[in-house]
Order: sequence, then C-alpha cells, then structure tokens
Amino acid sequence: MIRDVLTYPNPLLRKKSIDVVEFNDELHTLLDDMYETMMENAGVGLAAIQVAVPLNVLIISLPNDEDFQDKNDLIEAINPKITHKDGEQIFSEGCLSIPGFNEDIKRAQHILVEYNDRNGKLIKIEAEDFPAVAWQHELEHLEGHVFIENLSVTKRKKFEKEWKKEMKSKKK
Ligand code: CO
Repeated sequence: MIRDVLTYPNPLLRKKSIDVVEFNDELHTLLDDMYETMMENAGVGLAAIQVAVPLNVLIISLPNDEDFQDKNDLIEAINPKITHKDGEQIFSEGCLSIPGFNEDIKRAQHILVEYNDRNGKLIKIEAEDFPAVAWQHELEHLEGHVFIENLSVTKRKKFEKEWKKEMKSKKK
C-alpha cells in the first residue's frame, strides 16, 4: 500500500526514531509499503519517519549501471548504525520530503554500516561515493533531521524563502 510522504516542515520529521524490537509481519508490511511508496515517488531512499512511523527503518534502492532500480539490490535496513566514516565528498542531494529541491551537501566519502535485515540477521557493509551519500541522508532522517539543515545560514535562509513561496503556490 502506498503511504503519504510527510513534507517539510512537518514536525514529525524532527522526531528521533527508536529501534525495532520485533521482526514481525507489521515490520514486513511497513517495509513493503515503504518500497511501493518510494518507487511511486521516484525516490532512491526512504526512512520510516517519512511515512510517519518513528522507527529505525530505512530502505535504499540505487540505480545500477543500466540506470535501473533492481529490486534484487534493494537494501532494507533495520536499526542501522554507522560504525566508521572517513573522507569527504560533496553531492547534490534531494529528498522526497522536500520535493523539487536539490542542494550540495558535504558528507563522508566512505562509511561502514551495521544493520539488521527484515528477519533480524546482522549485516555489515561498506559504502562509498553515492551509496555512502544515500546512507548518510537516510540515517539523518532517523535522527530527526533533514538534509537542508546542513546548509550554511545564508543558503538555508534562501531555501526557506523559496520553499514558502513553493508551498503557497501549491495551496492555490
Ligand atoms: Co530524505
């Protein structure tokens, strides 16, 4: 089932998510719904809080060399944690909760992540370049933050002004 994606500045997006304790049907339904919702909105990642569920759950589906989001490559991460990060990269990011906006954000270039899969199995992976950006972006949602909070004060002010204009035009 496709769920509604919360948009900035919905206060729920500021909520810190908590760990999943039971790897049950309810979790699996959430994961399936998140996948449908992400694909419907042409996203490459989604955090549970973006569909109003404050649990440490995120999904990532990166396009392969043929620019296709293969479901076999889908990452479903429960209770994910970054255990190491190094390096630096700047990437133009977007977010389904702030549709239509892209901003350059500085992140670690290389990370190590630990998480549980949908059945609770512990997985350890390494990510660099764009996949590392996707991980850090989604993990930030679980902390109650959105990517534009990383902007400089000047750029943030410019964003807020443009976003207000955008929201007004949508209400009409
Ligand atoms: Co996002």
